[in-house]
Amino acid sequence: MAVKKVVIPAAGMGTRFLPATKAVPKEMLPLVDKPVIQEVVEEAVRSGISEIVLITGMGKGAIEDHFDISTDLEGFLASRGQEELLKMVRDISRMVDIISVRQKEPRGLGHAVQCAKAAVGDEPFAVMLGDDVVDSEVPCIAQLLKVFEKYKSTVVALEFVPDSDVDKYGIVEGEEVEPGIVKIKNLVEKPPLKDAPSNMAVIGRYILTPEIFSAIEGLAPDDRGEIQLTNALQDIANSDEVYGVVFEGTRYDAGNRFGFLVANIVYALKDGELGPQLREYLKGLVAFWGDR
Ligand code: UTP
Repeated sequence: MAVKKVVIPAAGMGTRFLPATKAVPKEMLPLVDKPVIQEVVEEAVRSGISEIVLITGMGKGAIEDHFDISTDLEGFLASRGQEELLKMVRDISRMVDIISVRQKEPRGLGHAVQCAKAAVGDEPFAVMLGDDVVDSEVPCIAQLLKVFEKYKSTVVALEFVPDSDVDKYGIVEGEEVEPGIVKIKNLVEKPPLKDAPSNMAVIGRYILTPEIFSAIEGLAPDDRGEIQLTNALQDIANSDEVYGVVFEGTRYDAGNRFGFLVANIVYALKDGELGPQLREYLKGLVAFWGDR
């Protein structure tokens, strides 16, 4: 069955970006001049998915507004003859259909996905986290969809992370069934290095089947009161099949301050207008700061 919908959880508190996120959703912080969530939505659209189930919470209205029609702004740009900007603004509101579902409390990623149950129905669906921005030739979620078409089972995106980072991710254990595709046996959430079964981390792209909902329902909250998607994936790996794809491309973790800054620098360097100027500026900066 074709994957038509993507769930984008955006109900977290964004505490790592306070005070910026006190009144602005983390997902609306810009990558150069584009909200991070738009980058993620464009990846879905390029992969043939244009139905979005947005999981929102308190203070997240700006995300819905961003993908809605803004008659005031369109009228203003039209009156000034700013055709290019007008087209850009119109294209954003026409790009996708969005259904919003409220997660009343941020009780973890598993709980956020569970909130999408009625909107998703009885069909496979994608999940994309706005924290992870993937720069790749073939969109990351399209790479997962290809594997899903072949194996007709749950698929997650995998990345090799350094030893120092294994305790920040869900880490998997499994066997490679073909180059870059791993059949996953076990998943451990944020293990200390000594307990990590590998360096393969699950990052924020998934293709899930409806069985995930009953797996989540059976979970108890962890000691922080959160319901972890990793534990539901483990249940599915026990009774069915879960595959991991070591995707082609570079992922930027825009959910932490350093990753966000790096992503901004890289995307600015790739920008036709800003790139050359920034490159020169950075050279001067390095020359000045050196190892000061
Ligand atoms: P994060 O854990 O990175 O987001 O979740 P957060 O909780 O907002 O971040 P910090 O640690 O407080 O800074 C990854 C994605 O999942 C969503 C978040 O909005 C984010 O886009 N999320 C997380 C939910 O929708 N609901 C939750 O309960 C937790």
